[in-house]
Amino acid sequence: MAAALRWALVAAVAVVAVVALDNGVARTPPMGWLHWERFLCGTDCAAEPDSCVSERLFTEMADVMVAEGWKEAGYEFVCIDDCWMAPTRDERGRLQADPRRFPGGIRALADYVHSKGLKLGIYSDVGNRTCAGFPGSYGHYELDAQTFASWGVDLLKFDGCNADSLGLLAEGYRNMSLALNKTGRPIVYSCEWPFYLRPVQQPNYTEIKQYCNHWRNFYDVYDSWNSIKSIVEWTALHQDSIVKIAGPGGWNDPDMLVIGNFGLSWDQAVTQMAMWAIMAAPLFMSNDLRHMKPEAKWLLQNKEVIAINQDPLGKQGYRITKDKNFELWERPLSDRAYAVAVLNQQEIGGPQNFTFSLTFLGNGLACNPACCIQQILPTGRDWGVHNWVSSLSVEVNPTGTVLLKVVPL
Ligand code: GLA
Repeated sequence: MAAALRWALVAAVAVVAVVALDNGVARTPPMGWLHWERFLCGTDCAAEPDSCVSERLFTEMADVMVAEGWKEAGYEFVCIDDCWMAPTRDERGRLQADPRRFPGGIRALADYVHSKGLKLGIYSDVGNRTCAGFPGSYGHYELDAQTFASWGVDLLKFDGCNADSLGLLAEGYRNMSLALNKTGRPIVYSCEWPFYLRPVQQPNYTEIKQYCNHWRNFYDVYDSWNSIKSIVEWTALHQDSIVKIAGPGGWNDPDMLVIGNFGLSWDQAVTQMAMWAIMAAPLFMSNDLRHMKPEAKWLLQNKEVIAINQDPLGKQGYRITKDKNFELWERPLSDRAYAVAVLNQQEIGGPQNFTFSLTFLGNGLACNPACCIQQILPTGRDWGVHNWVSSLSVEVNPTGTVLLKVVPL
């Protein structure tokens, strides 16, 4: 082969190697609702009819998503997590839903969800068993992908418990991706591959992005400030390797939004929403939409924050600096705009001011020669026109965040 041709081939392969999984979905971070953090593995529907993992839970959530503006705000996936299955496969080897908790089966549930203009997500595992001990997909990847597609499933969360070796973990994640593509149905593929790999081996994100639409890197989110804080800190500490890889078709997944539950104060809920927008995170709420306080609904449905999260440029944000208890983050947006977050980590005392020079933003370009600054969270406020040598002073509550949008003039 002529050297030039060989070089052209090498270059072509190198270009292919950085593209995302080409299944046409998740061009912006997917949005929806996922049962796990709030409803866990409740299987006793006689004792807990409102919160057990059952057909009713998902149809009720779909109803509320349409009736209460969630769908209109952009939340479109209704997702089932672990514990939906019967303890064994059917006589033809297919996964089946627990017949008592899902009497209509998953196909009927998908039809119902689709009739509401929403999409259905389901859960399985790369190993023999799911994390909660239900049947996993090991040895059945093709069959399970076909079963999910035949039911009309639109998203698969594929967990990584019980893979016997690192080789099987990687092979399983790859094979399920190929099996899903082979069905011809566009199915968002949600992975936990790097999370299960990381304790033993540095994940190859270029490869992971070729197979997955989003991927968990870190521990499960809990309904607590400690959990939110640790996810944000982990992301900042690893930003050099994970930020550049995110983009249309493939996203880092810091796990579910827990806003609207029990563990976060108002300021901490604002921080989760603001930081998940800065991090270009998939937005899957895990809460009870049937019983939602108006302020949690306001925050989760806030159009300006969602627009930042869904910005079409698809670049993930990063921490610019950490100054004592304050962190300054930015995310490049389309039309040369920037989202900026000022997070106050102090857990004692009252609100504090943070003053920063606008030359810090966008490598000096965000506000050059001038810009317009809009505050989005915790409340809307117009900060007016600034020039690139001016500074801005914002007051931030303990564990709270001020989220701004900086638009160049
Ligand atoms: C793992 C995942 C969670 C959830 C549970 C279900 O812990 O990380 O998100 O899916 O399994 O058992």
